[in-house]
Amino acid sequence: MISSTPKTLRYQELADRLAEFIRHGTYPPGERIPSVRQTSKQQGLSISTVLQAYSLLESQGLIEARPQSGYYVHAQIAERLPEPETSSPQHDPSLISLHELVMRLMHDSSNPNLVHLGAALPTIDSLMTQKINRIIANIARQKGEEAHQYQFPPGLESLRVQIARRAVNAGCNLFPSDILITSGGVDAIDLCLHAVCSPGDIVAIESPSYFGTLQILEVHGLRALEIPTHPRDGISLTALEFAIEHNPIRAVMVIPNFNNPLGSLMPDEKKEALVNLLARHDIPLIENDVSGELYFGDKRPTVCKAFDTKGLVMLLSSFSKDISPGLRIGWVAPGRYRAEVEWLKFTLSASSPTLPQMAIAEFLESGGYDQIMRRTRREYARNVRLMSDAVMRYFPEGTRCTRPSGGFVLWVQLPENVDSLELYGLALQGKITLAPGHVFSATYQFSNFIRLNAASFDYATERAIERLGAMVVELAARR
Ligand SMILES: Cc1ncc(COP(=O)(O)O)c(C=O)c1O
Repeated sequence: MISSTPKTLRYQELADRLAEFIRHGTYPPGERIPSVRQTSKQQGLSISTVLQAYSLLESQGLIEARPQSGYYVHAQIAERLPEPETSSPQHDPSLISLHELVMRLMHDSSNPNLVHLGAALPTIDSLMTQKINRIIANIARQKGEEAHQYQFPPGLESLRVQIARRAVNAGCNLFPSDILITSGGVDAIDLCLHAVCSPGDIVAIESPSYFGTLQILEVHGLRALEIPTHPRDGISLTALEFAIEHNPIRAVMVIPNFNNPLGSLMPDEKKEALVNLLARHDIPLIENDVSGELYFGDKRPTVCKAFDTKGLVMLLSSFSKDISPGLRIGWVAPGRYRAEVEWLKFTLSASSPTLPQMAIAEFLESGGYDQIMRRTRREYARNVRLMSDAVMRYFPEGTRCTRPSGGFVLWVQLPENVDSLELYGLALQGKITLAPGHVFSATYQFSNFIRLNAASFDYATERAIERLGAMVVELAARR
């Protein structure tokens, strides 16, 4: 029953249901689907929920809007691969030792002669870059000396003002004084873990988890407790609650919006339930929202921090995925841990670079961000769809693939007997990189998974996916 479902899921459910109708020919290619108003009436859903569902279907390439005429089923509709199932990690916390493999991947990802499907690099938008470069040149001319001075924590005020203003779109009331500027998301994750954990402590994380997070846990000698996670709506709260009751968990770390590598999006009700669960146990939540701006629907998703009444949520993000990874600017709103995080930031790195803070503040203030991001989101939605269509065309039976509604990575499950490290070696010989599933788990859970970067998609990408598919077919047939 749609109406008893959490609001964020409702539009996804409606989109899924309509997608099924389209695939089964209830609405054949080229035919008009019911209008927004009709569907809203039939399904007892608000106009905005229906619009969100239609916009998701549009971004998935299933329907198209025709001006003054309505929504039509796309002429060619591809079948879709099944999704991976909820993960089932080991029950015990584990120390991590992934650095050798991660460093190997990092070096390979810097080789300019390869097709890079591994590292989660965003596309660099030329208009965005031109604007930022102009702003940097102006600042260097007009505020040259100021731009060379330290910018001690909490960081540049005008940037914190812009971040606080934008946080409202994520349902979050932050004051500039709640925010500390960091050197990207990695610095923010590191500071949060440093502030609330000591070596040997247990941190509950999603399964799979972004390998950068696992690396920071490794550096701090922390133990990871991997919690079952669904590729559509994120970490299992039942499993997390069970884990909390049986382990002295010191912190929980999640990526609720467009998780890397799953692309999962936690519905609002689940975010609220997570915050309440941790509040009952007085456990800090480190919330990583670096991809929150990369939504394919028409509304920016909420953050867990919006439901935080006890100051336990440490919300962090960065400008690496939307503006520029090279400027290395991120931020954190650490709630009740603000003083510790500020002290750590000052002690460990004194300041984040001043000129990039000034440039991002001015770019956000002077406008243009939203317009460019609308186009970027459309491109990512399109490229994610094109890449998942290509995976379906070229990979063998038994392959599964996520269906993200934001971000730009795909998580692909290969037939069980295919080892993704072996595939990695073959792919490298064929001048392609990918991210093998091994690095997304403390306990090497995902040996037959790969993460693909779908930020851009062109002829060379399609051919690379075709070659990868042939390698997977060969490996699957071998044993
Ligand atoms: C989930 C997640 N968190 C953090 C980061 C790192 O962000 P930054 O480059 O801003 O340090 C990345 C980069 O890929 C990421 O995917």
